[in-house]
Amino acid sequence: MAAVELHEIEKSFGSTAVVKRLSLEVKEHELLALLGPSGCGKTTTLRMIAGLERPDRGVIRLAGRLVDDGKEFVQPEQRGLGMVFQSYAVWPHKSVFENVAYPLQLRREQNVEAKVMEALGWVRLSALAQRRPHELSGGQLQRVALARALVGRPKVLLLDEPLSNLDVALREELRGEIASLRATLGTTMVLVTHDQGEALALADRVAVMNKGVIEQLAEPDVVYREPGTPFVAGFVGGANVLEGVVQDGRFIVEGQSFELPPRTAVTPGPVTVVVRTEDVAVGGTGPALTLQAKLFLGSTTEYRFALGQQVLRSTGPAIDGLKPAQAAAVSFRAVRLFAR
Ligand SMILES: Nc1ncnc2c1ncn2[C@@H]1O[C@H](COP(=O)(O)OP(=O)(O)OP(=O)(O)O)[C@@H](O)[C@H]1O
Ligand SMILES: [Mg+2]
Repeated sequence: MAAVELHEIEKSFGSTAVVKRLSLEVKEHELLALLGPSGCGKTTTLRMIAGLERPDRGVIRLAGRLVDDGKEFVQPEQRGLGMVFQSYAVWPHKSVFENVAYPLQLRREQNVEAKVMEALGWVRLSALAQRRPHELSGGQLQRVALARALVGRPKVLLLDEPLSNLDVALREELRGEIASLRATLGTTMVLVTHDQGEALALADRVAVMNKGVIEQLAEPDVVYREPGTPFVAGFVGGANVLEGVVQDGRFIVEGQSFELPPRTAVTPGPVTVVVRTEDVAVGGTGPALTLQAKLFLGSTTEYRFALGQQVLRSTGPAIDGLKPAQAAAVSFRAVRLFAR
């Protein structure tokens, strides 16, 4: 049975459709990432699961229990969920301990102290139980929010961009903690993020959303290696997405003609060609393009070539002597081709 089930959910604000007939199942113990650009409907979807927003149409079930079908409606606090938001939403006048204890006190639970200290242990805050929020770092504040969301042992934890207010180092650290919490507690998690690295690193499956629709739902390596649509390829892999035509087995874009790699399934006519930056070879036999910029990225160097109005990016080892404003032959090692 799915931990979370959305069936043909629709949601509009005014005349704008924000979520369009979206169906999704999150398996028990799974971490599913909802990944997509700003405004694509991720938070709205999460809020409907939580019961903080009502869908216009569709059915939501949690562990098989109907929680919203337009008539039946289970209140957010009755859904057995935990939630963590981007802004820490920690009460400023309560201590760390009191913040985490609060949901238990609301429900008049027993053994509050033991449960709070256990939850603080999960997020490595045991020593800071008596601190006030203004005495904590951003990462520690977000750990308080995590402990507070987990202390009631929710079946499902909803995370809305929980790491995006943190600096890079803290983000990496908390990423690891979310992964280990999940291993320890086995909580089902839905993680909303626009950060593809975060989604790929943490999720069992990634749902890539665009304009209120899930374009692809698959394991991280599948989404990365076999993007189902040009949008997914561009958004997740940072690939070059080029619109042109196939003529006589060659790809014509912006007036340049590229040889297609052997074994490319070719359909003549208008196509979108997706090329990973690491599959753009410099110094082969292709058309000569002008280098616009060279960016040192540490383990690789990125070269940006002018391709008419578009930019073609290539990453790989540094190339001796190639400088901006010079031209170099550029070809494709591998492409994905989508008919338009
Ligand atoms: N209460 C609301 N009233 C009107 N429009 C809304 C409301 N909430 C969200 N929207 C609009 O719905 C669209 C989707 O919003 P949503 O917050 O779900 O996006 P998101 O994918 O979470 O984006 P972000 O990554 O920026 O958080 C946006 O265009 C937003 O402006
Ligand atoms: Mg959002």
